[in-house]
Amino acid sequence: MRIVGLLGYPLAKSLSPRMQNAAFAELDLDWSYALVPVREGHVEQAVAGLAELGFAGANVTIPHKRAVAALCDGALVGFMAATLTDAPGNQVARIRIDQHAAGPENRRDTYRRLYAALSGELVAVGAFEHAISVATDQDDVVRHLFELGFGIDQVKGLRRLTPIAASGVTTRPAGAEDIHDLLLLTAELTTFHAQPPMLRPALVELHEIGNGFQEALVEERRLLLVAEHDGRIAGLMQAGPDRNYRDTATIGLAAVTSAARSKGVGTALLAGVVEWAAAQGFHRCGVEWTSPNLLSDPFWRGHDFDPVRYKLTRLIDARVAWANADLSYRYFVPRA
Ligand SMILES: CC(C)(COP(=O)(O)OP(=O)(O)OC[C@H]1O[C@@H](n2cnc3c(N)ncnc32)[C@H](O)[C@@H]1OP(=O)(O)O)[C@@H](O)C(=O)NCCC(=O)NCCS
Repeated sequence: MRIVGLLGYPLAKSLSPRMQNAAFAELDLDWSYALVPVREGHVEQAVAGLAELGFAGANVTIPHKRAVAALCDGALVGFMAATLTDAPGNQVARIRIDQHAAGPENRRDTYRRLYAALSGELVAVGAFEHAISVATDQDDVVRHLFELGFGIDQVKGLRRLTPIAASGVTTRPAGAEDIHDLLLLTAELTTFHAQPPMLRPALVELHEIGNGFQEALVEERRLLLVAEHDGRIAGLMQAGPDRNYRDTATIGLAAVTSAARSKGVGTALLAGVVEWAAAQGFHRCGVEWTSPNLLSDPFWRGHDFDPVRYKLTRLIDARVAWANADLSYRYFVPRA
C-alpha cells in the first residue's frame, strides 16, 4: 500500500481522507490518504519524517487552508501561501513575494501544480481575485504565471536620490487648511483609475485618508507635499518609510489635477520628495504604480525608477462556482 496525506492543524474536521480514499477505492488503487496533524513551526520536521515513513507525497495546509507545498519523493520542492483580505463581498487572496518559491528543477511544473492546488482552495472560500508578487529578475516565474492566466497589474520601482532639476513650479509642505483640497484631488485620482485602460473602480475611505493626511502633517518621517499652479493647489505627493525595503522613502499618493498635467508639476513634486528623503537620511525612493496607467508609467520610468517587483493578478469568473460536478454539460449536447 502507498500512503499520501495532509499536513496541517487542526485537521479533525477535514473531509479530505473521505474524499480521497473514496476516489482511490473507485479507481481500485491500493493507496490511502492520512491526516497528519502538524502545528505551525514543525512542518519542516514533519516533511523530513514523511520520507522516512515511506509517504509517497502530501498536501500541506496551514490554518484556513491558505498554503500548499509541493513534494517530490518526500522532499519539499516548493510552496505557495495566500493571505485573504476581509474586504466584504470581494475576497482578495494575496501571495506575497516571500510566500512562494520553487526549486530550479521542473520549476514550471511545480508552479503549475502549486497554483492548481491553491487556487481550488481559494475559490472554495470565495476568493476569486488572486494577486501574487514576484521580483522582476525572476523572469521565469513571471512567465510561468503568465501561462497560468496572470497579468502584470502593479509595478514597484526604486531609484537613488540623485537630485532632480526643479521645473519652476513651487512646492511646499501641506498645512491643515489644505486637507479639503487634497481630499478632492484624491477623489479625482480614484475616478482617474476607473478610466480605461486601468478600469479599476474603488470605494475609497476618504475619511480615513483624511486622517492619514492629518498624521502626515505632524510625523517627522512622513511628508505631504503640495504644488500650486495659478494660485490653486494643483498636485500632491505623499511619502514615508517603506514597509519592506530598508532605507527607502516610498511615495504613496501622487496626483496632479487634470488641468495642470504635463506642465512640470509632477516633476517638481518628485524633486521635492527626493530632496526631503535625502535630508531625512533615506538612501532610495520607491513608488508603486498601476502598470496600465498611461500617465504614471512613463512618468516614473522616465524619472529612473527601476522596476524591482511586479504584482500579477488573475480574476476568476465567479460563475465557475456553479460549474461543478452537479452540473452535467451532457444536457447541452444536441440530440442526433
Ligand atoms: C503621473 C502624474 C502625477 C505626473 O504629473 P505631471 O504634472 O503631469 O508631470 P510632469 O508635467 O512633471 O511630467 C509629465 C511628463 O514627464 C514625462 N517624463 C518622462 N521622463 C521624464 C523626465 N526624465 N523628466 C521629465 N519628464 C519626464 C512624462 O512622460 C510626461 O510627458 P508629457 O510631456 O507627455 O506630459 C500626473 O500625470 C497624474 O496625476 N496622473 C494621473 C494620476 C496618476 O496617474 N497618479 C500617479 C499614480 S501612481
